[in-house]
Amino acid sequence: MTDTHSPDVRRPDGRRPTIGVFDSGVGGLTVLAALLRRIPDANYLYFGDTARLPYGSKSAATVAHYAVGAVHYLQQHGAELLVIACNTATALAFEEIKSASNVEVIGVVEPGASAAAAATHARRVVVIGTDATVASHAYLRALEARGVSVKEKACPLFVPLVEEGWVEHPVTEQVARIYLEEAFSADSRDADVLVLGCTHYPLIKPLLGRIAPPHVTIVDSAESTAHDVARQLQIEPLRVSSQFAASPQIERRSAPRLKFFATDSAEKFKKMGTRFLGHPVEDVLHVDLKE
Ligand code: DGL
Repeated sequence: MTDTHSPDVRRPDGRRPTIGVFDSGVGGLTVLAALLRRIPDANYLYFGDTARLPYGSKSAATVAHYAVGAVHYLQQHGAELLVIACNTATALAFEEIKSASNVEVIGVVEPGASAAAAATHARRVVVIGTDATVASHAYLRALEARGVSVKEKACPLFVPLVEEGWVEHPVTEQVARIYLEEAFSADSRDADVLVLGCTHYPLIKPLLGRIAPPHVTIVDSAESTAHDVARQLQIEPLRVSSQFAASPQIERRSAPRLKFFATDSAEKFKKMGTRFLGHPVEDVLHVDLKE
C-alpha cells in the first residue's frame, strides 16, 4: 500500500496529518483505499454510519442531520481535514457539513466533475449514482458549470448487489446492461465518459467497463478525490487545534494508522469492510450517536 511518489504531507513539526473520512457505511472505504494509495503518510479516522444507511433513499434534511453529527464526532476525535466520501451526503448536504465544520472539507462531487470535464472530448458525460444523488442534480450542476452536458441515471440496485458481494455475477451484469443501455441512449449516445457517482461502484468498475460502449472512459470519483486531498495537503497547512499542536511528536514515515468508527456492529463492519478496502480492517469501535 505504499507509493514511492506519494507526497510528504507531514506538518512542519514532523507530525502526520489526521484525515477524517465520512461515509454512510462501508462504501467510502473505496475512497479510503484511494487515499491510502496516494497518501500513505497520514493517519486516518473513518466513520461509517452503518446503522442508518442507506442514505441514497433518504431526504436531504435527514442526510444533513446524520452527516453533521458524524463529522462533529470525527473532529472531536482529531480530524484536521474532512473527506466526505459519500456521494449522497456530498450531493445533498455539502454546504451544511461545511458550515458545521471548522476544518477544511473535501467532498467527492467537485473532484469527480472536474476529472470528468478533463476527460471528455465529446463534452457529454453520463453520471450514475443513487436515487438521491441523481435527484439532487449536484453532478449535473458541477459539470454544466464546466461546459459539459450530462445525462444522469439512478442505479439503486447496484448498492445491494455490491454489498452482497455479487461484483462479478450474472445478475449484476444483467442489471448493469439494462441501466447502461438506458443511460447511453438518445442524446447521450455520444457521451464518452461514465462517472461513478457512488462509493460502491468502483468495485464493479471492471464489469461496467465491459458493458459500457467501447469509446467510454470511466471516471472514478474516489481516485479524483484522493488526488485533490493530496494537492490540498501540499498547498495549505492544516489548521491544527491547540490540543493537538501541544504535544508534537516526530513521526517516521511508516504505515498509515487507521481507526474505524461504525454505528452498527463492529464485527460486521470488519467483515464487509475488509472486502471494500482490500486490506484487513481491524481497529473498529462501535459508536452510538444520539439522535
Ligand atoms: N455511500 C452512498 C453513496 O456514495 C451509497 C450507499 C448509501 O446509499 O448509503 O452515495
